[in-house]
Amino acid sequence: MAPIPLLTPYKMGRFHLSHRIVLAPLTRQRSFGNVPQPHAILYYSQRASKGGLLIAEATGVSDTAQGYPNTPGIWTKEQVEAWRPIVDAVHKKGGIFFCQIWHVGRVSNYTFQPNGQAPISCTDKPIVSKVRANGVDVLRFSPPRRLATEEILLIVNDFRIAAKNAIEAGFDGVEIHGAHGYLIDQFLKDQINDRTDQYGGSMENRCRFALEIVQAVVDEIGADRVGIRLSPYTAGDSDPDALGLYMVNSLNKFGISYCHMVEPSMAKEGEKVETPHSLLPMRKAFKGTFIAARGYNKEEGNKAVSSGYADLVAYGRLFLANPDLPQRFELDAPLNNYNSSTFYTPDPVVGYTDYPFLC
Ligand SMILES: Cc1cc2nc3c(=O)[nH]c(=O)nc-3n(C[C@H](O)[C@H](O)[C@H](O)COP(=O)(O)O)c2cc1C
Repeated sequence: MAPIPLLTPYKMGRFHLSHRIVLAPLTRQRSFGNVPQPHAILYYSQRASKGGLLIAEATGVSDTAQGYPNTPGIWTKEQVEAWRPIVDAVHKKGGIFFCQIWHVGRVSNYTFQPNGQAPISCTDKPIVSKVRANGVDVLRFSPPRRLATEEILLIVNDFRIAAKNAIEAGFDGVEIHGAHGYLIDQFLKDQINDRTDQYGGSMENRCRFALEIVQAVVDEIGADRVGIRLSPYTAGDSDPDALGLYMVNSLNKFGISYCHMVEPSMAKEGEKVETPHSLLPMRKAFKGTFIAARGYNKEEGNKAVSSGYADLVAYGRLFLANPDLPQRFELDAPLNNYNSSTFYTPDPVVGYTDYPFLC
């Protein structure tokens, strides 16, 4: 029988992967007080496999980085210590574990900020409140404060320290969260970034913040331990094709391990639409490992790998609901359905570690 493309081995720089099915970063909001909890040991180890790549949920780089309740951080010693047993459990099962490091920027409100201050961003334009992807939660945002030019390097430094801390906690590397409308993406997008200094205006200027973070993190932990996630097609830019291409071409000079790109193919979570856009030009231009994500099922993942469209495919909701997803794909077994009403609830078991295994 011909091998299943998703289940073929792949060498990602120093990491020997035994298959191409990646756990996408998934915020689960069960890290009370921004500290990862012991229940995450079981959650991540359930999804670990020998030679499988897992990307941890978005993890704050500083005390201004949060915009949702109970998301983990990696800026204090306590947080670093709390991550360690989780990382150890994944390693015990032979998994490779990257930490997604994150700053929400203006996707926040006063209640998440130290001393109730304004969230920070590249702009002082607020976002309007919106209903979250689970269709339940209403997110409320406070008007942000525009970062002064000289403050920006301090945020770059927060990412550098977070990367150092992640390595100290035992992670194999970090994924810089440059996607989905959060701080880095706010700088990248021309409909959000209205700066007039060297961080706004031209494409080169808008990408400067992201690339300074990549440089700082690479200098700190080495390029082979660094990935980045980008979503040029999520709202906010007048020319996402050019933005995506500019970023991957600029990333090539750092020699980072991977670029993780979010597909343009869905208007809303769970809803696929026809689109003239494709990640292919970026895939072709990028010299490292290319990970594609969003809306993939098994067949589409296999096709992406066999056609050379992506090296690896990240699965979010399917992996959330199927801790043994690689095995199920191998056996062509039926999948558990995900329950979006428990994506972000704080229960340490329900909707978290109680999705059944095949056996
Ligand atoms: C519950 C949930 C939490 C998510 N949290 C994150 C996150 O922390 N960081 C991130 O980059 N993307 C996050 N995403 C997006 C996923 O990584 C993924 O791109 C998305 O679910 C689409 O892939 P899928 O169709 O395989 O689910 C989240 C998605 C869901 C459903």
